[in-house]
Amino acid sequence: MGKVLGVNAVFHDPAAALVVDGETVAAAEEERFTRRKHGKAPVAFSTWELPEQAIAFCLAEAGLEPDELDAVAYSYDPELAPPDGGDVTEREWEGLRTLYVRRAPRFLRASLPGLDASKVRWVAHHVAHAASATFASGMDPCDVLVVDGRGERASHLAGSFAAGALEILAAQPLPHSLGLLYEELTAHLGFRRSSDEYKVMAMASYGDPSTLDELRRLIRTDGRGGFTVAPIDLARLAAPLAPGDPFTRAHADLAASVQRRLEEVLLELAGWLHRQTGNRELALAGGVALNCVANTRLWRDGPYERIWVQPAAGDAGTALGAAMHVANEFGDVVRPLRTAALGRGWDDADLEHRLRTAAIAYDRPADVAATVAEALARNEVVAWFQGRSEYGPRALGHRSLLADPRAAANLERLNDVKGREQFRPVAPMVLAERAGELFDGPVPSPFMLFTHGVRAGWAERIPAVVHVDGTARIQTVDRGDEPLVARMLERFEALTGVPVVVNTSLNTAGRPMVDDPRDALECFGSAPVDLLAIGPFAVRRAAFAEAAA
Ligand SMILES: [Fe+2]
Repeated sequence: MGKVLGVNAVFHDPAAALVVDGETVAAAEEERFTRRKHGKAPVAFSTWELPEQAIAFCLAEAGLEPDELDAVAYSYDPELAPPDGGDVTEREWEGLRTLYVRRAPRFLRASLPGLDASKVRWVAHHVAHAASATFASGMDPCDVLVVDGRGERASHLAGSFAAGALEILAAQPLPHSLGLLYEELTAHLGFRRSSDEYKVMAMASYGDPSTLDELRRLIRTDGRGGFTVAPIDLARLAAPLAPGDPFTRAHADLAASVQRRLEEVLLELAGWLHRQTGNRELALAGGVALNCVANTRLWRDGPYERIWVQPAAGDAGTALGAAMHVANEFGDVVRPLRTAALGRGWDDADLEHRLRTAAIAYDRPADVAATVAEALARNEVVAWFQGRSEYGPRALGHRSLLADPRAAANLERLNDVKGREQFRPVAPMVLAERAGELFDGPVPSPFMLFTHGVRAGWAERIPAVVHVDGTARIQTVDRGDEPLVARMLERFEALTGVPVVVNTSLNTAGRPMVDDPRDALECFGSAPVDLLAIGPFAVRRAAFAEAAA
């Protein structure tokens, strides 16, 4: 029986997770505390920075002191890192990264007084990603694919998982990397690398894959479970964009071409893996597994009956995966993840205290779910702050911005509220048992990591959530797991005949998702949101204006 703290600190999205006797007690990303998107700069110099606040939260959640931990699982193994030849400045300071990782036990001890530094264990980056998908999925046996920018020396892992043990069947060494290619394209299109890849995915749906044939020659699978990525001159295919530049047809076509080739390569990798094992289920992790369009293609055209994607599929999830991996080594039965709501939460008294401190007018309706449904039916925009915050990049009904999907203009309105690009889609949430009536695709989809077709007759009724390519990235809501959200959806349907609500993350452009009540009030105060439903309380825009006057 073990108390294992997992830490991701190396590349980006620093995070912490706590697994106690096999049960995931807490998991959170540092950005939600520090309010700095992605936690830190994705450079070697920042490797020493630890997710200190996320760690403190995880320990507090379980009432643990650092000296009570049985292990700290760190999601990178310096023994596997590229050799630096004694010069830490070489290869973009790769050696400095490794040095900082080796010193991490000392940094951890300084940050967590009382911690025995010898309890720090290294877990190979992709093994941590894999564990975050296999153990968390509850599928055993299953196959697992990890695809990201890079770990120590590889960019991918294909494995077979049975009885809690991972067998690695293939791993693609650097420099070949699908994730780094996608990051390169992200930067080329004027977006932020290791951050805005999902914008490229959205842009791809506006283009045609006009250079797909060329990319098929440059990006190839090798028949042994791996792949090669030849150097690609992106500028020849479309001129580089500066941040904020409008994109042209050529840019959308380039995005579509890379996206399509990525999907094909993932299908080929999954096909190879499936031929080795014959397993029917696949678990996915790594930053590339946040590409919900590619995930759907894998589900639709690939050999697996079921695909499960870890909600924090990017590097943040390696904190949880490393902890699960070590918990399993301790002999604990590692329990699957039921929910992504593993972050901070406040009880009603705390929330009311925060509202009073803010000297803000609020009320406590008989049922906040009904109040919100009524506001949405009046075409109001609602900030929804309920329960514990989500682990991973998606708002899943805990820190969400909600709207009526029947008004097409609500897409533009929400993008305006958030101050972000107009080509970005917003997504529908729907009760799991109703999803099949409206949408065509994998169900359940509780973590919004697949896209779905919208069935005939429905696209016109919920235009705000139908993307330009006719799809929608749905979140299915399990009534047992999310009774409050379920009640809100049911009430909205009773009022409107539509069992769907628009759900997008509660934040404004460039900022992390709202996490604590003050973030919620700041967001509400600075964005044209009509109603803030925070726990059982309702704060209304008009009342807010009066209180401020
Ligand atoms: Fe990774």
